[in-house]
Amino acid sequence: MTDALTLTRPDDWHLHLRDGEALAAVLPHSAAQFARAIVMPNLRPPITTAAQAQAYRDRILAARPAGSDFQPLMTLYLTDRTPPDEIKRARAAGVVALKLYPAGATTNSDDGVTDLKHCRATLDAMQREGLLLLVHGEVTDPAVDVFDREAVFIDRVLIPLRRDFPELKVVFEHVTTREGAQYVTQAGDAMTGATLTPQHLLYNRNALFTGGLQPHWYCLPVLKGEEHRQALVQAATSGHPRVFLGTDSAPHAAHLKEHAGGHAGCYTALTALELYAEAFEAAGAMDRLEGFASHHGADFYGLPRNTGTVTLRREGWTVPAAVPFGQAELKPLRAGERLAWKLS
Ligand code: DOR
Ligand code: ZN
Repeated sequence: MTDALTLTRPDDWHLHLRDGEALAAVLPHSAAQFARAIVMPNLRPPITTAAQAQAYRDRILAARPAGSDFQPLMTLYLTDRTPPDEIKRARAAGVVALKLYPAGATTNSDDGVTDLKHCRATLDAMQREGLLLLVHGEVTDPAVDVFDREAVFIDRVLIPLRRDFPELKVVFEHVTTREGAQYVTQAGDAMTGATLTPQHLLYNRNALFTGGLQPHWYCLPVLKGEEHRQALVQAATSGHPRVFLGTDSAPHAAHLKEHAGGHAGCYTALTALELYAEAFEAAGAMDRLEGFASHHGADFYGLPRNTGTVTLRREGWTVPAAVPFGQAELKPLRAGERLAWKLS
């Protein structure tokens, strides 16, 4: 049994940092865990232009704790009207990707894409300029069962997208199903990668209903059944080079999760590597954690791997019950529970 694991400094390839007081509250947690993060653009209003992304990056840099070298990697929010011209400006501003939110699929997705047919010229420009497309892979058709929305997205949206834009790098974000894991690991398409969250590796949908309704386990895409969780663990621990870490840590004030119509999102930035270590250890695959957390994402994005290391130790600790979040409080996933691993 290993009691310590040293790995190359990891990155978070899918993160929600918000803005203002919320940004100030959560950024230190991610900066303590990760060297870089792909920052989601679903603010209100969303980050849709290169200029907005640059200004947002400056606010993130200004919110870093003293001495932190954490680097935000910026994204734009794709809409039906994102002009193809914006892609050159985005690349010049250091933006690395655009995020596809199907309109209405999740938090702050109202301005998202109603149909990818409106985006063809912009997707062409992205393919040319080498920007990635990050997808929230769920259809919003109300006739489709909420647990089937990811599998249907593969057939209706992802397969046609891959056919029409074969050179566009696509990240299928927060994959939650066996179908999603199989698509990425077996479709044999070198231009498609996937991120996996800690909650989808550790929990199945029973977690939402055990001991009463559990709003802190509610995120989108929603947790799936056990056979899906096992397929995700298999994909994460297989060493597959296009499968990598993306927490989807999504902070919401506790009072907005603990009420009717509660917001979707699990807050995992405080405990991310510890949670992934738990999932990898349970699968007997601690030796695969470094590739997943520190190598595969950088390689897929075409960015250098980090230098320097972090160390996880087997050292029990209790996750705080809550942390400050502006005027409100934020309850991390596993609040008040013991974790076996600690990042030192
Ligand atoms: O659970 C989620 N929360 N899923 C998303 O896609 C968005 C995120 C958020 O921004 O809160
Ligand atoms: Zn997200």
